Amino acid sequence: MKILVVGKGGREHALVWKLSQSKRVDKIYVAPGNAGISRLAEVVNIEVDQLDALADFAEKNKIGLTVVGPELPLTMGIVDVFEERGLKIFGPNKEAAEIEGSKSFAKNFMHKYHIPTARFKVFENHFEALDFVQSASYPLVIKADGLAAGKGAVVVNNPREAKITVENIMVDRVFGEAGSKLVIEEFLTGEEVTVMAFTDGERIIPMVSAQDHKRIGEGDTGLNTGGMGAYAPTTIVAERMLKQITEEILEPTIRGLAEQGRVYTGVLYTGLMITERGPKVLEYNCRFGDPETQAVLPLLENDLAQIFSDIADGYLNVDEITWKDAYSVCVVLAAKGYPVSTEKGAQIEGLDKCQNDDCAIFHAGTAFSDGKYVVNGGRVLGVAATDHTVKGALARAYSNVKKISFDGMQYRGDIGWRSGKVSNSYF
Ligand code: AMP
Ligand code: GLY
Repeated sequence: MKILVVGKGGREHALVWKLSQSKRVDKIYVAPGNAGISRLAEVVNIEVDQLDALADFAEKNKIGLTVVGPELPLTMGIVDVFEERGLKIFGPNKEAAEIEGSKSFAKNFMHKYHIPTARFKVFENHFEALDFVQSASYPLVIKADGLAAGKGAVVVNNPREAKITVENIMVDRVFGEAGSKLVIEEFLTGEEVTVMAFTDGERIIPMVSAQDHKRIGEGDTGLNTGGMGAYAPTTIVAERMLKQITEEILEPTIRGLAEQGRVYTGVLYTGLMITERGPKVLEYNCRFGDPETQAVLPLLENDLAQIFSDIADGYLNVDEITWKDAYSVCVVLAAKGYPVSTEKGAQIEGLDKCQNDDCAIFHAGTAFSDGKYVVNGGRVLGVAATDHTVKGALARAYSNVKKISFDGMQYRGDIGWRSGKVSNSYF
């Protein structure tokens, strides 16, 4: 079978890496891909939002299955476009993907189906939002309704900060049309974890849990990023908690969506806060997480192409999915200036010196210049490793990190610190 993967980040490199291990896969194309991905697959110069061009490519090249990485094409309806043309594709359709595309839809949906989440209010008018924040209790979280590249949630501590945020989002439209509505919600405290699940719209199988590290600085300080690293599985989501999450969150979500005629197939991502009163949903994503995928997929024992193909055909065999009894980590190496700005072009050294055993280097923002790898995005590389212990996986990953260098390279030395399994958290 020929596969087309849509996307260009570390998540897509991990997907291609895993798919390329399948005997069912003859060839992989990636649109638009990156330099590292081009070593494993043929990259095609089509952007992720060019839905018709992607479908034309799939048709012309007799692609047996298309796999979509990022949320943008999913919320734009790539699955609907492909299915109308009889092309097989893995992912939720436009209506189902609204679970990520609109936070007000997601919150109203959770409220209706009693899925635990922070208390909230939706505003379509900024005067009403400003009125509300004057007499609310703090802290609060203010979120733009639509897609905002992971930057649309702001924690505010007083009416003054809230007023500025409401005006930025709704009046100045710093996130564009995403700010035509607002969700204001209760600030939750606890441990944040990610649980992703495979689903065919009826059957659901959760993956091992993972924890992202969203802040740029060690000890979870500084600005929010797309994610500076991840490890899996987490300590906090042990078997009993995963069962609770499946029963209280994943199953009612998939059932509720089906009830509304929005049958959800693909990967459902839940960003959760494990509070004193149990797990609550912070956000849904309609796709694999990045960088969680780079930590989770190395633990999957199955043929990923088989899982994707089965789901696209409408039947997921949940009894067959198994995970390695091991730990996996991914340390992100970011460019100078990230997350505020990105300085591109620095030459990347040392990749050829990295150890391969139970390790993988996933490229996110890389390009070739004169045949050499150079920095071409905010998150540049994801250095992943697995081992029987978190500590062992971290030691393998950081030993590769130490071999890689580029001008202004930034990384966190404390990935996995919340696992409680790393006594010396700084590498
Ligand atoms: P979101 O855009 O909804 O994914 O939120 C981005 C990040 O903001 C989350 O990963 C959390 O770290 C934080 N966050 C979102 N909602 C809340 C909340 N209700 N309470 C505390 N933190 C939150
Ligand atoms: N790691 C967060 C995300 O994929 O949205």
